[in-house]
Amino acid sequence: MHMIRRRAWEIPERLVTPEHLVVKRRSLLAGAAAMTILPSLLPGGAARADVPVNQAFQPGRPLTEEKYATTYNNYYEFNDSKSVWQEAQALKQRPWSIKLDGMMAKPRTIDIDDLLKQVSLEERIYRHRCVEAWAMTVPWTGFPLSRLLKIAEPLGSAKYIVFQTAQDKVMSGLSAPFYPFPYIEGVTIDEAANDLAFISTGLYGKPMPPQNGGPIRLTLPWKYGFKSAKAIVKISFTDKQPDTFWEAIAPSEYGFWANVNPAVSHPRWSQATERLLGSDERVPTQLFNGYAPQVAGLYSDRKNEKLFM
Ligand code: MTE
Repeated sequence: MHMIRRRAWEIPERLVTPEHLVVKRRSLLAGAAAMTILPSLLPGGAARADVPVNQAFQPGRPLTEEKYATTYNNYYEFNDSKSVWQEAQALKQRPWSIKLDGMMAKPRTIDIDDLLKQVSLEERIYRHRCVEAWAMTVPWTGFPLSRLLKIAEPLGSAKYIVFQTAQDKVMSGLSAPFYPFPYIEGVTIDEAANDLAFISTGLYGKPMPPQNGGPIRLTLPWKYGFKSAKAIVKISFTDKQPDTFWEAIAPSEYGFWANVNPAVSHPRWSQATERLLGSDERVPTQLFNGYAPQVAGLYSDRKNEKLFM
């Protein structure tokens, strides 16, 4: 029999689990097995598709309320305020395709829905730390970037993966003369293969809102947020370190590596503490945003490079 496994967001809006139940469901599951399939809590007990929560990544902080994470954003293609969310709704989320090119055996363009058929979605709650010293803790839905590497099959000689993001007529900030669009970001293949590196297509159990990078974005929780490129339209493989957007603008302020470190100040402000979105609380910043056990080993041979800016 042919079974259709619906994604959590393919159900009618009226059946979507209210957020307070989702959050309660998450807290109930804390401490359960590493990957837990969530039974849905729909009105009337009807079953709905399940996205497993990967319990290996415990955030150690309360979740940021959705209303803050989705209304306080950085998205320079629209403008340089934090209030892009309404304007960003104009960015069409389908059809959406991603070009794969560079050092790979089979360069091609892939439709996002064909890509999603080849992956298993899971939810991960990660801390996110912006270089501007604000932070949030949010549940991303998506799949490991290492899975994308397997699908793309880069050549063994490729050393970097590079992400280019959308330039669309609805993005009024693209005409600002100062910024070298398109927005480009990249990491080494080793970083991309790390278990933490994630491609996100959802947030709070819903499709990724356009303002947060919908329909598909990068999520690299141990790095400053500017590395996590939104609205990806092209992924390339290369053996040369890419020129990235923020590094091109201000190389003394934003480096290629951009790993979070409380001891290395931004030239214009301290990185020792961070403000939690939705409150005025300031908490100490952690090395690699608290993910040192998972990622510090990636940099053991790179001690002489500017890893933390
Ligand atoms: N991606 C694109 N395409 N354009 C951007 O301006 N801003 C980055 C990153 N990705 C940005 C981007 C920065 S500075 C941060 S902190 C995060 O997105 C913010 O993600 P959020 O709005 O979902 O919190």
